[in-house]
Amino acid sequence: MLKRILSYFIPFTIHQKKSKISKNLEVTWNNGELVLDSKNTNYSYGSLQRVLRKGLNYIGYNRVKNFNNILVLGVAGGSVIKTLADEIHFEGKITGVEIDPQIINIANEYFELKSIKNLNIVIDDAFEFVLKTKEKYDLIIIDIFQDTVMPNFLFEEFFINRVNHLLNVNGFILFNTMTLTKEDKERNLYYRTRFDENYSVRTYPKIEDHNELFTIKKLK
Ligand SMILES: C[S@@+](CC[C@H](N)C(=O)[O-])C[C@H]1O[C@@H](n2cnc3c(N)ncnc32)[C@H](O)[C@@H]1O
Repeated sequence: MLKRILSYFIPFTIHQKKSKISKNLEVTWNNGELVLDSKNTNYSYGSLQRVLRKGLNYIGYNRVKNFNNILVLGVAGGSVIKTLADEIHFEGKITGVEIDPQIINIANEYFELKSIKNLNIVIDDAFEFVLKTKEKYDLIIIDIFQDTVMPNFLFEEFFINRVNHLLNVNGFILFNTMTLTKEDKERNLYYRTRFDENYSVRTYPKIEDHNELFTIKKLK
């Protein structure tokens, strides 16, 4: 309790672990809230949770609540999953795909991810998972970072087509990106052009400074 109150003045790190994928993982009390950070960025809760909450709001909480099957690529501490469970009261099926098993241990120990009954966690590379899954989804949340780096496959034709194929008609993709450089901005402009008239693409720039969100609706 004391650490929580003091964290309004100075952040307190209570757990730290080296990670091959994220370099370093830290669980920290910051502004009265427990957050998960990688070496150079916030991974879960804090600003990351606010970013994805905004994305879900753009799609509409009521619409999301009525979906049946949600896929989350990139779980970390599971803050968007918590938003789905506690704020939207989503009762359908959630599948979370995460490459780093250490991060899931942290999510269970510090962020009570295990308490979410309608969640199934798969430890796998998201790229491999989308090739293998036989299911279709109403909402696919893509939130994949290796520290501040977004793997190239996310912007490549093959992955885009595969994710589109997994989406039900009237379903949505919510894609979180970071735009730190001119190249990142150009990459995102190009990404938009990859969707034809069967999709409605919206961009929400400058969310919490460096994030740019996409919502993509499959029209037919
Ligand atoms: C920003 S965090 C995700 C935050 C999470 N969506 C939330 O709401 O709290 C990014 C995550 O992507 C994971 N990741 C990176 N590359 C991946 C890959 N190829 N497949 C699956 N997960 C990956 C990282 O280990 C990290 O946990």
